[in-house]
Amino acid sequence: MADGNRRSPAAAVFDALGSDYEKAFAASGAHRASLAWLLERLPPGSRVLDVGSGTGRPTAATLTAAGHRVLGVDVSPVMVEIASRQVPEAEFRCGDIRGLPLEDGSLDAVCVYFALLQMSRAEQADLVRRLALVLRPGGLFALATVPLDVEGFDGVFMGQGVRVTSFAAQAVTALVREAGLTVLSEESVLFTPAHPDATPEPQLFLHGRREGGEAAPAG
Ligand SMILES: C[S@@+](CC[C@H](N)C(=O)[O-])C[C@H]1O[C@@H](n2cnc3c(N)ncnc32)[C@H](O)[C@@H]1O
Repeated sequence: MADGNRRSPAAAVFDALGSDYEKAFAASGAHRASLAWLLERLPPGSRVLDVGSGTGRPTAATLTAAGHRVLGVDVSPVMVEIASRQVPEAEFRCGDIRGLPLEDGSLDAVCVYFALLQMSRAEQADLVRRLALVLRPGGLFALATVPLDVEGFDGVFMGQGVRVTSFAAQAVTALVREAGLTVLSEESVLFTPAHPDATPEPQLFLHGRREGGEAAPAG
């Protein structure tokens, strides 16, 4: 799972931010609502992959507290160290999700909260397709991103230089559908992180399902 000697740009940014990221985003009601959406639908003891698991809060902490088995993967060693300490009930691995072997049909849910933004568009699309296959039929998919039509945009995020790539909201939804997932709900919000340099950012939370299993209610 190690990435070799070169630290990825995402690892550099999130190693520097560490727990400050969690503090800045702790008030996100939309993130909590997305987790509640999953908790209402997941069978007991579900296997969940959390892509870009950050500090483990709120995602892994909320899901493990409800009795689910969570594997978090993050490219930032600092984030993995914090998450392992804060959520010992979950398993965390340090590595780049783009190189992680994943078994098809093996998971009940996959979460990808704000972890795509340092990947190219082709990598984001490939990853969503791969994550869709990793779900068992009927498995649930939760994705959050900043839905902006930007490619290789150099900005500053919480004092750190970042290069951001994303899609406009409609294109995010299309990408998820093209991966073979049924989109069950979408929520667009404007959120201002609790950080002196922060400005309001658009966020899209999207929930979907791989067809073929028991029906989950829409909404
Ligand atoms: C914006 S933070 C979000 C953290 C967490 N998902 C949350 O919403 O609280 C994005 C996280 O994704 C991780 N990340 C970015 N690119 C990644 C990649 N290619 N593989 C694994 N983790 C990645 C970063 O290190 C960071 O911890």
